[in-house]
Amino acid sequence: MLEITRLTVEHLTADCVTDCPAPHIAFAVRSDRNGAQLTDAELTVGDWSAKVTGDGQTGTTYKGPALLPFTTYSVQLAAKDDADETAAASMTFETGRMETPWKGQWITDGDYHFTEAKVSPVPMVFRREITTDKPIARARLYATAMGIYEVELNGKKLGDRYFAPGFTSYKSYLQYQTYDVTPFMTGHDTLTATVAGGWAVGSFVFTRKNRVTADRQALLAELRIEYEDGSVEVIGTDSSWQVTEDGPIRMADIYDGETYDATKETTGWHNAAPETLKITPAITAEYGAPVKAHEVMHPVAVTTAKDGEVIYDFGQNFAGVIRMKLNGKAGQVITVRHAEILNPDGTLNTTFLRTAKATATYTCRDGEQEYSPRFSYMGFRYAGVKGIDPKELEIEAVALYSDVAQHGGFHCSDEMLNKLQSNITWSAKSNFVDIPTDCPQRDERMGWTGDINVFAPTALYNFELSRFLEKWLRDVKAEQLPTGGLPNTVPVQGYGFPATMPEMAVDWWGDACVNVPWALYEATGNVDILRAMYPTMQKYVKACRFWAGFGIGKHRYIWHTPAVLHFGDWVAPDVPKMSQWQGRSKYTATASLCNTSGRLAKIARLLGKDEDAAQYETLSAKVADAYCSILTDGSGKAKDEFQTAYVLPLYLNMFPENVKAKAAENLVKLVEKNDYKIGTGFPGTPYILFALADSGHADTAFKMLLNTQCPSWLYEVRVGATTVWERWDGLDENGECPIGDDGTDQMISYNHYASGAVGAFLYRRVLGVEPVLPGYKLFKFAPLVGGGLTEADGTVGTPYGEIKAAWHIENGEMTAEITVPMGTACTVTLPGGVEQNLSGGSYTLTARV
Ligand code: BGC
Repeated sequence: MLEITRLTVEHLTADCVTDCPAPHIAFAVRSDRNGAQLTDAELTVGDWSAKVTGDGQTGTTYKGPALLPFTTYSVQLAAKDDADETAAASMTFETGRMETPWKGQWITDGDYHFTEAKVSPVPMVFRREITTDKPIARARLYATAMGIYEVELNGKKLGDRYFAPGFTSYKSYLQYQTYDVTPFMTGHDTLTATVAGGWAVGSFVFTRKNRVTADRQALLAELRIEYEDGSVEVIGTDSSWQVTEDGPIRMADIYDGETYDATKETTGWHNAAPETLKITPAITAEYGAPVKAHEVMHPVAVTTAKDGEVIYDFGQNFAGVIRMKLNGKAGQVITVRHAEILNPDGTLNTTFLRTAKATATYTCRDGEQEYSPRFSYMGFRYAGVKGIDPKELEIEAVALYSDVAQHGGFHCSDEMLNKLQSNITWSAKSNFVDIPTDCPQRDERMGWTGDINVFAPTALYNFELSRFLEKWLRDVKAEQLPTGGLPNTVPVQGYGFPATMPEMAVDWWGDACVNVPWALYEATGNVDILRAMYPTMQKYVKACRFWAGFGIGKHRYIWHTPAVLHFGDWVAPDVPKMSQWQGRSKYTATASLCNTSGRLAKIARLLGKDEDAAQYETLSAKVADAYCSILTDGSGKAKDEFQTAYVLPLYLNMFPENVKAKAAENLVKLVEKNDYKIGTGFPGTPYILFALADSGHADTAFKMLLNTQCPSWLYEVRVGATTVWERWDGLDENGECPIGDDGTDQMISYNHYASGAVGAFLYRRVLGVEPVLPGYKLFKFAPLVGGGLTEADGTVGTPYGEIKAAWHIENGEMTAEITVPMGTACTVTLPGGVEQNLSGGSYTLTARV
């Protein structure tokens, strides 16, 4: 039977509101017949229809008559396979404003002058009463803000997003949200919008800079009502709306938390004033993955600290907010502090939050009540509550993260590796908060480019990230500096790093503009993202080339601008100091240039730009040659011996064939000498196991993967980590933080996904599933057996549907099972060299091990 398993518009299966004039439509099919092929597929949108051929099922662009704003379209799909079985599916999507000028104007509180430094403004509340006297056919509210907002109709929150309008490079793009209010309009209605400081106005970045985008909050909204008689009424924000800061939310700040006074009625209403913004962004229908509430977390243990604070342990580190149900007395103040770890004496350890207060303060009214912060989030496992008898309180928490579907899974016979996989996934969730962030708890939570640069391939195995990453990449493009360099955090939002100068391009961090689109392309087959980012990549690589270009002879290809301008082998555990990580930048930066230029060559070829491709190929080859000639002895020995110095050239294939094996042996020696413990920083960590395993040293790779001594991935697991840490030595065997006063002692987060980039190795080698052609049109299933593992199984989401793979070994025989999505092909290689080519279907194979 032929079945359509997914139909999407702009990567959404439902609720798509778009301003895109040519939306991207995709679908996946399945058959219970092995080898079934799709022979016919037709997409119809209104008067337009198109036969889908080739790779069209992973993305067909609407090319019909111009779409009209404020309109619902239906998409029909009819498909047929080679046995004449048919299937059909349909969905609707809606166009947004599509550049219709706003009748509403930006409004604010003209009396509110917010000048205080390093804090966030008091939330502004806007309201407007609406009277309608005719039957309504369709009503939509379009809204956005300077700050973060929530909107209520008659006291009920519209939508389920947190932190709308989301975090973008505000000077370039601002999203608006669309709310279907048709069923809620009663004839006499009140719209209320609360706007907190958020990223645009509130304090952000560890310098706690505020008012980066606007001096105070502002709201732009339009209620568009279509009556059954065909007339349309638009009620926009203007000075007839009222505003006040005198509501129950007294403080809201991304880092500091929220202060809520439930005894307070909202008073002090006065008329709003028009606001002129400092920026003129394109205001576009939401195109990212908004933050929503996901897992509900319950305490697994409750203890009382020596000062009486009641500590709730949620058993898992995550990003989110608490939810309290309580019985209180008017004026009773409850404080909830948050922390990732406890001190040895059982109190909360908040030292590493730095300036982030991460505290919810709630003043009760009388009786039963509920509270949960709405304009802040915290990264925590423990919540410490004071001010209420625990018997009067029910507390839970909810994980907040971007609405991305988890489409991958990995599991194997080693429970510690399974925990590592869980930790990687939780660190991803905790750091996908509208943008890819570094950490969710301290005063950063910023879009550090280097972190997602190394983590994207792993992230894409676990989650469908098209909208999430495409949105962020739009900002990467927008934030590129005229010099070609990229800010180290995107959106930059007031950040300036004293040490590095992004104008000059920063290896492995700026590389995100090449590597993240590439990872997305590999996972989804979407070549449009490469096309969109190509000019950005070119400018960036040109900048890197420029900065590498000082010196003579082969030195012209060694990127050796002063180390302080780089992050180098960031957080490498084999040397303790930041300056030592940076000191390795000659190696990391040169390898970065080889990689970005080489990748750009491939991208240029794909886009039909052969001349460009040839130039980038030459550049990449020259850089590789310079690395081997100048940074190694030419025979596979690095001049400065550290793991990353070998990992990068091995993984990136920079060594000439005749020295590769020697270089790999030298890496193995280093690893052995280090008792199979990890020594790499951000740039080397994702690749070290590939560098070892793919050069014939799978045993060494497995010993490192399964090592439980510090520093190693499983050390963290062994001492109780529930997420991936920033520093390998974040806690010692006794649960204490051993990091001394080396200048980085305040840089300790227990929820940083970068070193979780090892996840790709679990999928690609241990499970054995790896794309050969983008989007898994052709993929490999080649499990790498080792480390005493006896089984692995997992799923990999592809645009064609789900790959299911599993293998287990019993009595020297491997039984492997694979589900190949219809429309893809798979080359299976089992131990002993058993090879087979498979088309769509489910198969079981065996091999002697
Ligand atoms: C962040 C990182 C980031 C790094 C770069 C840190 O403070 O948390 O993950 O990439 O700085 O220097």
